[in-house]
Amino acid sequence: MMYRNKILAIETSCDETSAAIVADGRYVLSNIISSQINVHQKFGGVVPEIASRKHVEAIVPVVHQAFSEASCGYNEIDGVAVTYGPGLVGALLVGLSFGKAAAYALGVPLIGINHLVGHLYAGFLEDPDVEFPLIALVVSGGHTSIIYVPQHGCFTVLGETRDDAAGEVLDKVARAMGLGYPGGPEIEKKAALGNPKKYEFPRAWLEKNSLDFSFSGLKSALLNFLHNAEQRNEKLSVNDVAACFQEAVIDVLVEKTVLGAVQNNVKTVMMVGGVASNKRLRLRMRERLGEEGVRLVVPSPELCTDNAAMIGCAAYYKMRCEKFSDLFLNAVPNLGLDVGNYQ
Ligand code: KG4
Ligand code: ZN
Repeated sequence: MMYRNKILAIETSCDETSAAIVADGRYVLSNIISSQINVHQKFGGVVPEIASRKHVEAIVPVVHQAFSEASCGYNEIDGVAVTYGPGLVGALLVGLSFGKAAAYALGVPLIGINHLVGHLYAGFLEDPDVEFPLIALVVSGGHTSIIYVPQHGCFTVLGETRDDAAGEVLDKVARAMGLGYPGGPEIEKKAALGNPKKYEFPRAWLEKNSLDFSFSGLKSALLNFLHNAEQRNEKLSVNDVAACFQEAVIDVLVEKTVLGAVQNNVKTVMMVGGVASNKRLRLRMRERLGEEGVRLVVPSPELCTDNAAMIGCAAYYKMRCEKFSDLFLNAVPNLGLDVGNYQ
């Protein structure tokens, strides 16, 4: 197949070193993801200094593998895309330095991509011809945001978490329950065997019609609940606790997203980010949106968690608007989504 455009994409914002070759913004020719999860597991979370070192070790082999799996030559690349924030500064700098060097050496443009915009574009890999306007729920370890997207390159945050992100709460509670890292998939496994009606945990709906989230109350409720049971020497069913806790997170994610879709009269919702790989969330979201006549687009789990293919897809649309970055581009650890706008 003849492609008109090929982008080398790099993602190193947290604990995955990833490189991809994406053609014409929709064909993933390769998407190599080298995860550091094993290294961080014994610390119960990502250790920033270790993450940077591991990125340095992995970046060259990962990029080589991306070229070889795509059967792509260096001279076929039309642009280099790289995540420049938000994320861990040391981790971001590894990918960014590599990306700049690659763009300079290959004599092609550099396209800096906001990690959140990247997550959102995983939805466009799933369905490149999706209709605008749409709403996206970006739900990951660092973010829980509802975003209005009227066209490519325009992102308006309608609501976001006021404290912890959904993935962060799953990770923290899982840790308190003695489950492994990352917590989301562990909670999902236990929850599948539990009764989601056994215990009642709080849901924070906030002000009427608000699309913001708050998960810290739920987190405290869970931590207290676990602590009290321990003090009373009460044996809890881990499966039931996981099921009820997961249900509390899902209820709020689903209802707020439905509200966002209805308020803005959109017919499509994209759900992206690591937590979007949760099967129960996918099922409940699809069912509820279906009742409102709204279609759900969710990428495959590999494209939900951090990966470079989504960065390459986002870069394709930015490149079409000739929005290039210069070689002075710096890492921005707390980059906001509004900075992702380019139209
Ligand atoms: O998007 P991601 O890979 O990295 C960030 O940008 O944060 O998301 C990681 C988060 C973690 O909190 C992890 O526990 C959660 O996604 N996660 C899940 C599942 N898989 C990953 N949460 C619930 N269910 C899952 N199956
Ligand atoms: Zn992410």
